[in-house]
Amino acid sequence: MGSGIAQVSAAAGFQVWLYDISKEQLRKAKPLPNIKTTTDLNDFKNCDFCIEAAVEKPEIKYKIFKELDALVRPDVILASNTSSIPIAQLAKQTRRPDKVIGMHFMNPVPKMQCVEVIRAERTSRETLESTLSFAKKLGKTPVTVKDAPGFVVNRILIPMLNEAVHVLEEGLASKEDIDLAMKLSCNHPMGPLTLADFVGLDTCLYIMEVMGREPAPLLKKMVAQGKLGRKSGEGFYQWGQVSS
Ligand SMILES: NC(=O)c1ccc[n+]([C@@H]2O[C@H](COP(=O)([O-])OP(=O)(O)OC[C@H]3O[C@@H](n4cnc5c(N)ncnc54)[C@H](O)[C@@H]3O)[C@@H](O)[C@H]2O)c1
Repeated sequence: MGSGIAQVSAAAGFQVWLYDISKEQLRKAKPLPNIKTTTDLNDFKNCDFCIEAAVEKPEIKYKIFKELDALVRPDVILASNTSSIPIAQLAKQTRRPDKVIGMHFMNPVPKMQCVEVIRAERTSRETLESTLSFAKKLGKTPVTVKDAPGFVVNRILIPMLNEAVHVLEEGLASKEDIDLAMKLSCNHPMGPLTLADFVGLDTCLYIMEVMGREPAPLLKKMVAQGKLGRKSGEGFYQWGQVSS
């Protein structure tokens, strides 16, 4: 997600710093000329807008928000691409809760039109307006929603994906037929098990946990086996070697 957000930002003409703890992930990000990659957060010192898109684990995001808050100018907005963690919890890690906001891009970022913009209780109107304007500059359509676990999109989507895993586990239909039935019946561009592979099964699991929902046993088992979907090469389907 981070590399996708960097790509659309660079394509819109912004100078981008892309940070990750993993050099391998940065190598796979295939940057445009106006993307610089780094494993040193200090390079963010002069940034004008920050978007965090690390793994969906609250403690990791809390640490990043604390560090960014100490590092960047006090007027800089700190946005998070979190799928489910309340923005208010991230804001609490900082001394600028009025400048913390959710910017939930969809996967794959360059292709998907919507960005859910999450306004927490203490997010200021100026922060909301700057973020909506930034999303539009990226060519996206922002939708403003309130702060609650899963926000709007994942509150509805992730339980559906989890239910598809239950249906598979109960043997009600093959994975292909579950996907075909949902595609043709609901007019979705891809079936739920394919979509779960795209989202990442670990990410689906983390979101279920943050939302306080019980994940399907098969979902937990596959994540424990390292079957994470497209990014690991295997999930409900085989994906071969995928570069990013
Ligand atoms: N996958 C999706 O469909 C999707 C859609 C919307 C939002 N999101 C959200 O985007 C975020 C990232 O999801 P993803 O699917 O790209 O996950 P991912 O597992 O593909 O990537 C996570 C990245 O975070 C990096 N990371 C781990 N610890 C870090 C740290 N301490 N500092 C900096 N980077 C660190 C990892 O090296 C990895 O590159 C999550 O919050 C997720 O909920 C995901």
